[in-house]
Amino acid sequence: MDVLEAIKGRRSIRAFKNQDVPAETVEELIDAARWAPSAGNIQPWEFIIVRKPRIKRRLVEAALDQMFIEEAPVVIIVCANEERSSQGYGARGKTLYCIQDTAAATQNIHLTAYSLGLGTCWVGAFREEETREILKIPRGMRPVAMIPVGYPAEAPTARTRKPISQIVHYETF
Ligand SMILES: Cc1cc2nc3c(=O)[nH]c(=O)nc-3n(C[C@H](O)[C@H](O)[C@H](O)COP(=O)(O)O)c2cc1C
Repeated sequence: MDVLEAIKGRRSIRAFKNQDVPAETVEELIDAARWAPSAGNIQPWEFIIVRKPRIKRRLVEAALDQMFIEEAPVVIIVCANEERSSQGYGARGKTLYCIQDTAAATQNIHLTAYSLGLGTCWVGAFREEETREILKIPRGMRPVAMIPVGYPAEAPTARTRKPISQIVHYETF
């Protein structure tokens, strides 16, 4: 699929069919994620793949009762290895680069999923400590996004975007 077609055609999907996503397909998503750029090529990303209903249920609670998360057969939790980024780049690595790096990896997952006919949603609203506890995420590692992945059971229309004239500045701000 053409990159622009994927960028413009992707939508946040919050309803999923009762249809499994094969492990090989999930691996394709992770493969796309790891090809994202990262500061100093540190690749400070780690991914947790959740399929167990019991764990998904708890993730729903941590994510402020966003019920659609457990409807998806697979939930990928993207974690930023703050420790590794700070070893390379100090405070800037910890507070900025590892967040940017994992955001790029997350977007790769969304676009690749869309190109494979899957639906995803970037879920950022969740209680971090609770999520850390549920998934046994060690210190130095920050859960930054949950991505429910499944076959879409809805086809939402595009949400609007600000016009280019409103967001671009030439030469100076
Ligand atoms: C950092 C971030 C956090 C988000 N968190 C949530 C979330 O917790 N729940 C949700 O339903 N959507 C969440 N979204 C999805 C946005 O609502 C969605 O991307 C936006 O409304 C544009 O719609 P579109 O993705 O269909 O283009 C999040 C998106 C981003 C980038």
